[in-house]
Amino acid sequence: MKTLFSGVQPSGIPTIGNYIGAYKQFVELQDEYDSYFCIVDQHAITVPQDRLKLRENSRALAAIYLASGLDPEKISLFIQSEVSAHSKAAWMLQCTSYIGELERMTQFKDKARKQNQRDGISVGLLTYPALMAGDILLYSADVVPVGDDQTQHIEFTRNVAERFNAKYNDIFTLPEIKTPAVGGRIMSLNEPTKKMSKSDDNQKSFITLLDDPNQAAKKIRSAVTDSDTEIKFDKENKPGISNLLTIYSSLTDKTIDQLTEQYKDSSYGDFKKDLGEVVKEFLIGFQEKYNYYLNSEELDDILDAGRDKAARKADRMVEKMERAMGLGRKRKK
Ligand code: TYM
Repeated sequence: MKTLFSGVQPSGIPTIGNYIGAYKQFVELQDEYDSYFCIVDQHAITVPQDRLKLRENSRALAAIYLASGLDPEKISLFIQSEVSAHSKAAWMLQCTSYIGELERMTQFKDKARKQNQRDGISVGLLTYPALMAGDILLYSADVVPVGDDQTQHIEFTRNVAERFNAKYNDIFTLPEIKTPAVGGRIMSLNEPTKKMSKSDDNQKSFITLLDDPNQAAKKIRSAVTDSDTEIKFDKENKPGISNLLTIYSSLTDKTIDQLTEQYKDSSYGDFKKDLGEVVKEFLIGFQEKYNYYLNSEELDDILDAGRDKAARKADRMVEKMERAMGLGRKRKK
């Protein structure tokens, strides 16, 4: 069976963009792969976090993964900092990466710009892709399902893996990226040329998975649409309505073509009202499952089992990496 790895940061509550770009794919793929899903708390601390909030968000994220429809019997779900192999791999891969290639990462440039105005830029923000490469390579992942914004990080992972394989020993599998056919980049509701992000200062620009469902419907109704009135998919010229069509299609089993046909004689207002209801119903169902998992004792058992399984696999790869680089002593056995 082939292996799948993916991660989400507990740096806030995930948005419906995260759901459509990431979780939805996870659920569709869980039967086909030996799947590892990670709550990447070490990535979250590349920018300042409140310690109590971070722990709360990590637990909430575990419940969110499960509420999305992942089956704890089939997958391994764990918290990154609980598997020490991730830090070890990150260091070895930092020593295999170049500052120049890390500085070219667009996510680094974007976040660095923001951070610079606040608390300064941590070294971790720069070396983040090496930590992420380690996450993936430790499990010999064949496939990494993510949204479009992670493409550059996966390319970096492949490059660093190739470099390590050539320089030290051929131990890493080169992972393939998997982005969804529809919804790889859900856009902001009030600035539809910008990615929807939970760290956006404007609360109206995104909907989180734990938003009040009625408020969420309201955010959809007040989403920015385009200057004419036609309900048509055209990302370039009609980014607002195209984004809403993508969200609608992703949360129902209707294709974008079916939706444009259905709404060809409707106004933006009617369309947004219906989509608001779709989002509301989706959130009600989602939050019911979320609350179940968050309050169940099962949650910690699932995270313990996930951590143990992940650590067994990751520790073996760390040993191979250390041997390849000449770290430590030769072991007897
Ligand atoms: P993060 O936590 O920012 O986002 C989690 C997942 O959600 C996707 N995503 C989106 N998809 C569609 N539309 C959007 N607006 C949107 N915003 C976010 C992201 O592409 C991602 O799939 N670096 C990663 C976390 C990570 C990781 C890994 C991922 C760490 N190690 C190893 C895969 C494999 C990140 O910051 O994702």
